Amino acid sequence: MNLKVKIGDKIELENPLMPASGPLVGDSEKILALASQGLGALVTKTISSKAAPVPHPCIVGGKDYIINAELWSEFPPEKWEAEFLPEIEKADLNRPLIISLGYQRDEIVALIKRVEQFATAFELSTHYVGTDLKPIAQTVKAASEATDKPVFIKLSPHINDPAEFAQMVKDNGGYGIVAINSVGPTYPVDLTRGKSPLGSKDGYGWISGPVIKPISLSRIRMITQSVDIPVIGVGGIKSAEDVLEFIAAGASAVQMLSAAMLYGKDLYSRILNDLPKVMEKHGYHDLAAVKGLLKNTSSEINFETGYPVIDHDTCTLCKICVRNCPYYALSIEDKRVVLDESKCFKCGLCESRCSVNAIEGVL
Ligand SMILES: Cc1cc2nc3c(=O)[nH]c(=O)nc-3n(C[C@H](O)[C@H](O)[C@H](O)COP(=O)(O)O)c2cc1C
Repeated sequence: MNLKVKIGDKIELENPLMPASGPLVGDSEKILALASQGLGALVTKTISSKAAPVPHPCIVGGKDYIINAELWSEFPPEKWEAEFLPEIEKADLNRPLIISLGYQRDEIVALIKRVEQFATAFELSTHYVGTDLKPIAQTVKAASEATDKPVFIKLSPHINDPAEFAQMVKDNGGYGIVAINSVGPTYPVDLTRGKSPLGSKDGYGWISGPVIKPISLSRIRMITQSVDIPVIGVGGIKSAEDVLEFIAAGASAVQMLSAAMLYGKDLYSRILNDLPKVMEKHGYHDLAAVKGLLKNTSSEINFETGYPVIDHDTCTLCKICVRNCPYYALSIEDKRVVLDESKCFKCGLCESRCSVNAIEGVL
């Protein structure tokens, strides 16, 4: 099974999975620990010109999401330059290292000069620079002129038009896009304390993890359908299936963070172990065959579909479809799920929610 991927024409990875910028790549020890799981590339926590004044508490988790108020690296660039990055270099990991930098043009250009020798590529965060593309364009241009190494720009989902953003990056010499950063602002409520559990100003934070996956996929698709630029997909990945979905949507490679913080830090190696099996299951032997698979689907709106057909031999009578149907079209008669076509709206919910695939015909 071939797990190799190319990101544009300058970067080739042994496999498509890397960590996303955040606490799991917050210093050299953590980066080296992740590297031992066999990832295709490594990424650093966002380094800026000063250590971040991180509020506490700064991370809360639910079943399938994380909300954070973490900012950028809590270590100053001097520490990265003199200690963490040389330690990573010494370990000779033999795979790309993407250094994440923030935020304003001049500080990014100065930071590139300081850490360039350690980087394979750069990733610039746009998380705290507003939604006006003009200053971001100046930053992309200045950063791309300051180094020969590939410069990726990370899309924050509060930026309005992902395709316009990607075109701006391309026009100003950027190499690729990392999409997406965490979504928000969001507000977690702790009823017992009567406030948000986060220590940030007014308690707001940014959400990530499996709940944001459909948003990430939409942004990747919007970009890859209209701009020819490499995209590293990130936001909500938790499984090998998800990795394939992101690549099918047009991503060249992927990053993951929150799911490893929710379901265990060894999730990276579990996904890498599963990936060949999941590819096999779907009939792929090469990730290049999966890439952009969704690209040519129809832009026509579909109005016609069939009614759900229930396979009574497979149905376990769990009744989820009956209880969930918004149109009251399903019921149980004589220990069988029965459809009333006069009520059925052909919405597809029952088919998508049946855990044993006993319903088909709508989707
Ligand atoms: C606790 C935490 C800290 C993060 N810190 C950074 C950061 O320093 N720089 C950055 O570009 N993104 C940061 N992110 C965003 C992630 O890199 C990623 O884009 C986002 O979480 C979506 O991916 P995921 O759902 O796999 O976590 C952070 C996310 C979390 C949860």
